[in-house]
Amino acid sequence: MNVTHLECAACGLRHEARRLHNLCAECGKPLLVRYDLKRAAASLTKESLSRRAPDLWRYREVLPVERDTNIVTLGEGFTPLVRALRLGAQLGLRNLYIKDEGQNPTQSFKARGMTAAVSMAKELGVKKLAVPSAGNAAGALAAYAARAGLEAHIFMPRDTPRANVIECEQTGAYVTLMDGLITDCGAEVGRRKEGEGWFDVSTLKEPYRIEGKKTMGYELAEQFDWELPDVIIYPTGGGTGLIGMWKAFDEMETLGWIGSKRPRMVTVQAAGCQPIVRAFAEGKRFADEFPNAQTTASGLRVPRAIGDFMIIDALRASGGTAIAVTDAELIAATKEIGAAEGIFCAPEGAACLPALKVLLEANSVQPDEQVVLFNTGSGVKYIESFSS
Ligand SMILES: Cc1ncc(COP(=O)(O)O)c(C=O)c1O
Ligand SMILES: [Zn+2]
Repeated sequence: MNVTHLECAACGLRHEARRLHNLCAECGKPLLVRYDLKRAAASLTKESLSRRAPDLWRYREVLPVERDTNIVTLGEGFTPLVRALRLGAQLGLRNLYIKDEGQNPTQSFKARGMTAAVSMAKELGVKKLAVPSAGNAAGALAAYAARAGLEAHIFMPRDTPRANVIECEQTGAYVTLMDGLITDCGAEVGRRKEGEGWFDVSTLKEPYRIEGKKTMGYELAEQFDWELPDVIIYPTGGGTGLIGMWKAFDEMETLGWIGSKRPRMVTVQAAGCQPIVRAFAEGKRFADEFPNAQTTASGLRVPRAIGDFMIIDALRASGGTAIAVTDAELIAATKEIGAAEGIFCAPEGAACLPALKVLLEANSVQPDEQVVLFNTGSGVKYIESFSS
C-alpha cells in the first residue's frame, strides 16, 4: 500500500485510508494524503524514472491509487518546461522558463487533479461525481468521468467561458449554469449532494485532486535535474497547485532527492479578486471573502478558498509574496508572451508576467535567477477575453 493515512492540514487528526472522505471530521479543514515514503523510495528512484512513461503516473508510488486497473488516464502531465529566451532577454532575465500546462488533456492543469480524483472515486466505488467550477476543472472532470463511465454533475457560473460549457456537454456531463460565483455553485452542490448521491470533488474538499496537482512539483525538480528553481510564479484561485507543489517538495526531501532549499513561491491574483493578496499584506493567515469578485481570468474568480492558510503558510515559509495584477495587464501579457514565445496562454497563466515585472521593479528577482511562470491553461478556451 502506498498510502498510510490521511491527515488534517489544520488539526492533524488522522483519518483512515481507503475510505471516502471529504473534509476533516473534527475541524472541517482539508485532509492531506500521507505515504509510506520509505517503501516508495525502494522502487521510485531518480534512475528508475528514465524508464517510465512521460506522464504523471511515472510518480506512481507517491500517488494514492492502489490498483493500476483503477487508473483513469488521458495522458496527462509531464508537460514541457519551455526556456523563454526571447521574453527573458526583454526582461533582463537569463533563466526564464514557462511550464506549459496548456498541453494537458482538456488544455489545463486541472487534468492532473481530475485524473487522480476520478481514479480514486473509481477505486472507492463512487458512481456519481459533482463539482462547482470556474470552468477548467469542470471540463477536466467531465472528460475523466466519461473515460471512467461515471456521472459528472457540473455547476458553473453562467458567464463561464463558452468553451468550458461546450466541452462538458460534448463529453456527456450534466451541466447546470448558475447566476453567481463558484462559491454559490459550491453551496448548491453542498445542498443537493446527499439527496442525489453525489460525491463532492470540490477542490481541497476532496483529498486527491491535490495529489495529482503536486506532480507539477515533482516534474519541475526532474526537469531542472533535481535542483529546484529560485522563483515560482503561480496564478492562484483555490491554490491547489501551489499547495500541492509545496507538499511535493517536502516529500522529495524525505525521499532524499532534494535538499532543504525551496523556491520563493509567488501567488498572482486578479485585482478584481485578490483575497490571498489582501490577507498576505495584512499579515493574516485566513482570508476574508473578497466582495464583488470580478475578472476575465475566470479561474482566478475565487473569492474564498478553503485552503487559504495553506497557501499563505507556503508563501511565508518560502520567502515569497502575493501580487495582484489588473485585467488590462494580464490580457496585454497574453500577447506579449504569445508573440515572444509562441505559447497562447490562458489569461490566468499570462497574469504571471505582470507579476514578474512587479518583482523586477522591486529588485526582488536577480538577472541570473531561475524563474518559472506557470501557464496553467490554454488561451483557446477564452476566445471571449480577446478582441483583435
Ligand atoms: C487556467 C487556470 N489557472 C489557474 C486556476 C487557479 O487554480 P488553483 O485553484 O489551483 O489555484 C484555475 C482554476 O480554475 C484555472 O482554470
Ligand atoms: Zn482537523
